[in-house]
Amino acid sequence: MDGNGRWAKKRLLPRVAGHKRGLDAARNIVTACRKLGVEYLTLFAFSTENWRRPQDEVSFLMELFLRALESEVERLQDNNIRLRVVGNRERFAPSLVERIAAAETRTAANTGLVLTIAADYGGRWDVLQAANALVADGVTQIDEAALASRLAMSYAPEPDLFIRTGGEQRISNFLIWQLAYAELYFTDELWPDFDAGALDRAIVSYRERERRFGQTSEQLPEARRRG
Ligand code: IPE
Ligand code: MG
Repeated sequence: MDGNGRWAKKRLLPRVAGHKRGLDAARNIVTACRKLGVEYLTLFAFSTENWRRPQDEVSFLMELFLRALESEVERLQDNNIRLRVVGNRERFAPSLVERIAAAETRTAANTGLVLTIAADYGGRWDVLQAANALVADGVTQIDEAALASRLAMSYAPEPDLFIRTGGEQRISNFLIWQLAYAELYFTDELWPDFDAGALDRAIVSYRERERRFGQTSEQLPEARRRG
């Protein structure tokens, strides 16, 4: 979810105003995905690198996250949405860690959509913690399934579609292992402007693609072929 700061700057507002509007956009996209029948939606909210931002912006984002957990959980509950948070929680305030656990527990039985918030998340952190878990488990012969089962999002299938807003064409240390075969979609729209219509455009683009997973076009079943 990129472009909050630029959205605010264009309006001569402080960066944090962009983050507030970013939360509104996230709420709308969650609703849109629920309506579309999307099973897994993962939002990259805060990366392991984002701690390097000015202290007051980091504090604001943490406060926004904490308050969103409080204000949104009933809405998630009403819409049968399960919340999960992935990332390294060690640097979060104890109050935030408690809130996360409470929201996850509260929504644990919901079956409509799994909403994952990646916070203090980094793809390299994830692969390393999985590798360390393998070591701790005494696994010496590592295969893909063994490593994948220790990743933070082992409960979810690999993503079909990756969307990055804000014009940058980078993965920026998101789900580096699981994105190996994802369709990548980059848009100049700033995150606070990303609405249901913008999501539709991303999905249309996804549908026009042919996912070959290394095979040739001719090998694919008719239904998976493009055009
Ligand atoms: C949101 O956008 C990303 C977060 C870490 C919350 P940015 O804050 O990176 O916005 P830009 O890139 O400065 O526009
Ligand atoms: Mg940015």
